[in-house]
Amino acid sequence: MTKGLFITFEGADGCGKTTQMKLIDEYLRGKGFRTLMTREPGAKGLGERVREILLNYDGEVSPACESFLFLADRAQNMDCIIKPAVEKGVIVLCDRHTDSTIAYQGYGRGVNIDELKNLNNIATGGRKPDLTIVFDIDVQTSQARVGEEKDRMESAGVEFFERVRKGYLEIAKREPERVKVVDSMRTIEEIHNEVVELIENAIRRT
Ligand code: TYD
Repeated sequence: MTKGLFITFEGADGCGKTTQMKLIDEYLRGKGFRTLMTREPGAKGLGERVREILLNYDGEVSPACESFLFLADRAQNMDCIIKPAVEKGVIVLCDRHTDSTIAYQGYGRGVNIDELKNLNNIATGGRKPDLTIVFDIDVQTSQARVGEEKDRMESAGVEFFERVRKGYLEIAKREPERVKVVDSMRTIEEIHNEVVELIENAIRRT
């Protein structure tokens, strides 16, 4: 039996990570692996209610409050969904996780990054992803893909998303073993092929 794996999918809004996650899920199931897809914010159950507040609340939200809400959802996702599945040998695919908080609340909103790292550690019990894939696209493309109908986070503006992108690239530089950047200005198929390679390498290493 294979050991479980915990893989996270990261990148700016509109980067195509959710499409890629679904494709790789199908691919892995086709090869006989057991998989589970989850997301943040909005892990199944309680997380869905937290997601509703985070994306749709139309009053003022302080950066610290926003951070704690994402972290609350993360703690629930880790303890109730991710950890139990990985322990059973499942490959868990998670749409956004700790690096979103560093990129969006840290680089984007200016919340202290070292403090966010500590809070991420509390939320996850220190369990890091075995592999993180950052889907990198330029901000103009990202904004064009998101379109006119933006949720609360997507309305943050071009400079905000420039900082988010820079954040992801710096995280990848600091942790090159865990975090792999995939150029997402290519076709879905080209990107998928690279994701397959990265995940097969990660499976071989476990
Ligand atoms: P979602 O609709 O899931 O966007 P996407 O399909 O791009 O993942 O919305 C999640 C939004 O929340 C997205 O704008 C990124 C943001 N976010 C943070 O700011 N911090 C976090 O820790 C997480 C998990 C998400």
